[in-house]
Amino acid sequence: MTQSFVLRWGIISTGRIASCFVTDALVDPKTRDVTDVVHKITAVGSRSVESAQKFIAEFAKGDQSIKAYGSYAGVFADPNVDAVYIGTPHTFHYENALDAIKAKKHVLCEKPVTLNAAELRSLLAAAKEHGVFFMEALWTRFQPLTLEVKKLAESGVLGAPMALQADLSADFGLDKIPKTHRILDPALGGGALLDLGPYPLIWAILALYEHPSNQGAAPSNITGTMLKTPLTGVDRSTSFTVTFAERGVAAQANLSCNLNVNTYQTGVVIRYEKGTIAIQEPIYCPKSFTVQYLQGDKVTKEETRRFEYVGSGWHFQADEVARCVRDGKSESLLWGHDKSLLEMEIFDEVRRQGGYKFPPGLEKVV
Ligand SMILES: NC(=O)c1ccc[n+]([C@@H]2O[C@H](COP(=O)([O-])OP(=O)(O)OC[C@H]3O[C@@H](n4cnc5c(N)ncnc54)[C@H](OP(=O)(O)O)[C@@H]3O)[C@@H](O)[C@H]2O)c1
Repeated sequence: MTQSFVLRWGIISTGRIASCFVTDALVDPKTRDVTDVVHKITAVGSRSVESAQKFIAEFAKGDQSIKAYGSYAGVFADPNVDAVYIGTPHTFHYENALDAIKAKKHVLCEKPVTLNAAELRSLLAAAKEHGVFFMEALWTRFQPLTLEVKKLAESGVLGAPMALQADLSADFGLDKIPKTHRILDPALGGGALLDLGPYPLIWAILALYEHPSNQGAAPSNITGTMLKTPLTGVDRSTSFTVTFAERGVAAQANLSCNLNVNTYQTGVVIRYEKGTIAIQEPIYCPKSFTVQYLQGDKVTKEETRRFEYVGSGWHFQADEVARCVRDGKSESLLWGHDKSLLEMEIFDEVRRQGGYKFPPGLEKVV
């Protein structure tokens, strides 16, 4: 029997999402029928060593072999780390990822990968120069439900995509949280678009941009409008449209995200010539979708598919990183550099139209 490839991870930051990632990475891969790769956490870096130690005790079963560092630099310099997972607030992604890349570590960086497209272009150039793998942690793209939706959508049975609606909203209780919370604070890149926007967008990218008949064409039009909260001026509600009409796809995505209401049960609706795919919330990690087959306006068949697995869904992206690193790839075919770049270019344009400027100096590359 061939041996599993072991990827040795260094974790940067000890916040909420880093704990989710580590918990899932340590789930036995065999529970999801994965035998070719396995994950080992070898280092955790935090701004305080106590926090790194506490994190290891709580989320890595107190594994004494994991090194706790009171800085991120310690993890970058650790020879037992192959890949770095970055779970800091958006505004630090650029500098943390650049430091990791310069230390010749492969990188998985939380969404949104950077504050703007210029920062991302600079990181991609650095990753190329240093010969390392780089990926945005758009975990939804690697989940089994998403892979199944893609297969169905591209099988041809539903015909061409025509229209897509997707929303991700969450009531953050804005009046009750401190203005320094990362969702509200402009100095931490706060607002709905950067935090929630990647999820409605990923479905538009999957169904329209990735559709074979689109042949990789960029959107022909992007519009965006923002409603700002008077609390700090970041976007409380953002709606944006992304239109594809350059090649074989002629379809529009209507996307939205809000910080003051909860999401509706059906988060994504993709309408095709001969049917509809409706994906249940939460759209970052849905567990079921329903497909209706249509003849004219008559529903001829309806099926619901449900997906279950051990863990919460963050491990599938970790498996993808491990396979790519094992195979010497610089990017993933599923969520490659072009898609992160498209995401950041769309966000730049929506922020431009919505009049959302970051505080001076926040963007490291413009
Ligand atoms: N994939 C997903 O489902 C998902 C979900 C939520 C968030 N995210 C993304 O993950 C990132 C972090 O979100 P989170 O909810 O995990 O945030 P969080 O709980 O506030 O954790 C962020 C961590 O970053 C570190 N950090 C470094 N400098 C900081 C600063 N000046 N202020 C605050 N924290 C600082 C801290 O760790 P140390 O003290 O240990 O250094 C902190 O615990 C964001 O970019 C967000 O968009 C992704």
